Order: sequence, then structure tokens, then C-alpha cells
Amino acid sequence: MKALILSGGHGKRLRPITHSQQKQLIPIANKPVLFYAIEDVIEAGAEDIGIIVGPNKDQIIETVGSREWDANIEFIFQGDPAGLAHTILVAEDFLGDEEFIMYLGDNVIKGGITRHSDAFRDLDPDSLVLLTEVEEPQRFGVADLDEEGRVRKLVEKPKLPPSNYALVGIYFFKPLIIEACKNIGPSWRGELEITDAIQWLIDNGHRVEASIVEGWWKDTGKAEDILEANRLILDEIMPKNEGVVRDSKVFGRVILGKGSIIENSTVKGPCILGDGCRITRSYIGPYTSINNNCDIEGTEIEDSVILEECSISNAGRIMESLIGKNVNIRENGRRPLGHRLVVGDNSDIVL
Ligand code: DAU
Repeated sequence: MKALILSGGHGKRLRPITHSQQKQLIPIANKPVLFYAIEDVIEAGAEDIGIIVGPNKDQIIETVGSREWDANIEFIFQGDPAGLAHTILVAEDFLGDEEFIMYLGDNVIKGGITRHSDAFRDLDPDSLVLLTEVEEPQRFGVADLDEEGRVRKLVEKPKLPPSNYALVGIYFFKPLIIEACKNIGPSWRGELEITDAIQWLIDNGHRVEASIVEGWWKDTGKAEDILEANRLILDEIMPKNEGVVRDSKVFGRVILGKGSIIENSTVKGPCILGDGCRITRSYIGPYTSINNNCDIEGTEIEDSVILEECSISNAGRIMESLIGKNVNIRENGRRPLGHRLVVGDNSDIVL
């Protein structure tokens, strides 16, 4: 089975971080979201993986290439994000005449997808979609199921959802989906929707089955989703110390990377501190991920995701925050007192 992982698009809802960084590369527990998808499809048996890339393709190619993978990976250029079904048309040559998994590169799911790939193999439908009950179905594609649990109808982001079953961004397809994608037109949002292509299968008498997701699943489209996915992943980490702890208290499950130093501080897990970090006179609380080469001094940080190369000094208490790469936050010692900010477009600051 092949896999098509979608890592194109602009990530507008995650600006300003996505001005400089492709959203699928934002780390959760210090690992790019996209890597969870790649690991899942490999575990489910995919040997050939096509990754859809868009305008920021170089970042994706470089980051994916920085690790060895147990599969062949090729990159497929989409250009502007014209819809999930459009990516299948762009990938037509790569997909050939094989069954494939389509996995949205900003989705994270507990426990991988092997149970669902087994269901696809056993039930042998034309498509198998993953569904999960959500509180705000309006934000997703939504399924209407018949009495036997088969998909009767799919609607993309409906104002009046027919059920609470959202489409998870992981789909299994027979090659017939390519014909379906060729037979649909753009939606009200101007995209070729995968929900319309799957609906085409149903309307033309083909069988679409559903597999219900039992654990958690997250679409990391917004900052609060990244923080929530970070909590869920950190809840499952095992402690590991490759750094140095001096005159400090470390409680719970903490991962400390190579060359990192914790000094005169308190660190309470679950949390992960990357390589080359320096934590001095600080408190790092539960559900915090601090990426490589960060310097934290005299500051309390809890329930937050901090990307690499940040320097944070005497900054008070930071919580529920998502901080991009190479950010500098420091105490304002000068008079008159006040916040001095150099902040990118569309930032969100709560003081
Ligand atoms: O996450 C689940 C939801 O994903 C489903 O419930 C919806 O039915 C499905 O349409 C999709 O909705 P989103 O609005 O969240 O899709 P988004 O535009 O965020 O794109 C999902 C991923 O695919 C994202 O990583 C970017 C990538 N993408 C998207 C488009 C439209 C591409 O690579 N190319 C594209 O043309």
C-alpha cells in the first residue's frame, strides 16, 4: 500500500508562526507534527510515501531529509492549495493503480492507524474513512451514517451538522478515487473537496465504510489545538535524562536532551526539554515542551510550546503559550516602565 501525506497549504489560522514556518513542521513534544504522520503510515505498512508540498516546499524537504526513514519518500509539488481532492490529481502518476492511505500532515492520532488499515483490508471497501465524535462538528467534514454504520452522506463544514461524527483527516482509498476526483467541481470555498469525491463514490454505488477512532485525535489547525496535542503526547512520554541537573528539583516524567543543563530550578513533568538548553533560576511546569538551544532564566513556564533558539529572561510567568523560533523575551528594566514589543502580523498577546 502507498501513502499520500499532505503537507502543502498556507496554515493561515496559525499565523504569525506560519509566516516563516510551514504548519506541519510545528513541533509537538519537540517532534514536527508531520513526523507523526510519516511514522504512522510506515507502521501501517506503507513502503512508498508521497508527500504533497506547496510554496514552502524547501523547509519540508530539508526537515524530512534530516532523518532516516524506513520507506521511499518522494515529494510532489502542488503549488497553491486547491483542495484535498486536487492533491490526489496532482499525485496521480505517483499513486498509479494501487490502494493508498491519505493522511493530512497536520493530524495527530493516538496509537497509530494499524487497526484502521486492518479494517480496510478486511472489509475491502472502495474507501474507508475514520470518524470520531466531536463537540463542534461545524469545524470539520461530517458524516451521516445508515443503520449498519455505513456512510450515507458527507458534508464539509456544515452549518447544520447531520451528526457529531467528524471526518478525521486519514482516509483509505482504492484507485477509483482518482476518477471520483476528476468528476467533481470546486466547492463554495473554491476547493476540490475530498468529501465531495467520497460522496461521488457513494452516489455511484460504491461502498464507503467507516472506522471509529477510539482514542484521541487532533487536527492541529489552531494554536490551542497544538497546545492540546502537546498535552496529550506529553501524557505518554517516558523519562530520560541525557543532560545535567545541578542544585535543582526534577519531579515526574521529564525528558532532558543532550548537553542541556538545569540549574537552581524546579522542573515538574510531564515535560520535554530539547538538546543544548539552559534552564537557570526558573520553574518549568507540566505540559511544557522546550525545543533545542533555548535559554530560560528567572522565568516560570507552564503548559506551553517553545520552539528552538529562544531566549527568555526574567519574564514572569508564561502559560498556555506557543512561542516561535528564535524569540527573545526579557524583563523591561528601563524607565518609563511599559511593554516594548516588536511583534509580527496577526500575533496574539495576552498581558
Ligand atoms: O482535519 C480533519 C479535516 O480536514 C476534515 O474533517 C475535513 O473534512 C477536511 O476537509 C480537512 O479540513 P481542513 O479545513 O482542516 O483542511 P485544511 O485546509 O486545513 O488542510 C488539511 C491539510 O492538508 C493541511 O495539512 C494542509 C494540507 N493541504 C490542504 C489543501 C486544501 C494541502 O496539502 N493541499 C491543499 O490543497
